[in-house]
Amino acid sequence: MRLDIITIFPEYFAPLDVSLLGKARRKGLIDMAVHDLREWTHDRHRTVDDTPYGGGPGMVMKPEPWGEALDAIAPPADVTGQPAEVVGERADGVPRLIVPTPSGRPFTQALAGEYAAEPWLIFACGRYEGIDSRVVEEARGRMRVDEVSLGDFVLAGGEVAVLVMVEAISRLVPGVLGNFDSVTDDSFAPGAMESLLEGPVYTKPPVWRDRAVPEVLLSGNHGAIARWRRDQALRRTVANRPELAARLDPESLDKHDRQV
Ligand code: ADE
Repeated sequence: MRLDIITIFPEYFAPLDVSLLGKARRKGLIDMAVHDLREWTHDRHRTVDDTPYGGGPGMVMKPEPWGEALDAIAPPADVTGQPAEVVGERADGVPRLIVPTPSGRPFTQALAGEYAAEPWLIFACGRYEGIDSRVVEEARGRMRVDEVSLGDFVLAGGEVAVLVMVEAISRLVPGVLGNFDSVTDDSFAPGAMESLLEGPVYTKPPVWRDRAVPEVLLSGNHGAIARWRRDQALRRTVANRPELAARLDPESLDKHDRQV
């Protein structure tokens, strides 16, 4: 999978060299490049923002550097309609552009899974009051574009949102996690955990500060352990995310679930 990130703060992305993602990059599973948007400015001050039309507070990111950056990273098709030859050996058809913004569609585990199956993603990190809207409009003419929000809060810019999304997406790329099973047990994972939060977990020692690990987990009875885990997941979902619990398909609940 190829990932391109466009930002005015490339240094934000240093952590992507460590841990799971660093390993995936070294193994060649993820090919990532971080681009400084200011490379595509032409004035002495390398200006990327300007005052908003219509007035109001803050600044808006200018369209020109964004347009040039996207053209350089994913060259548009030529006049014959043929896809342009992409510079470098990292070409892979047409990318999907992801623009983090609090005004976007919600980022979910399902969307992370969808992105993990794409060969090429470009992330555009906006700052200030956002990017001139014509950039997304124009890009939609030649690639799929998603404006995506991490939740109902406002960050100072898209960088941290992209770090979050890249981590969530890359761990779903086959080969990145050592134990792929752990992905299917995750909260929100498609399948049995779709609308459920994962329950509590324990490790050794069996008793710590007078607190014992629930006995069933030491029983070796796999059926009983699975039942206990599902009960815990249901309880936690009802307590912390009642709106998620309300969405559980009644058909998917067995008699025991209903008692929880
Ligand atoms: N940029 C600023 N706030 C954001 C949010 N909540 N989600 C995604 N990108 C953002």
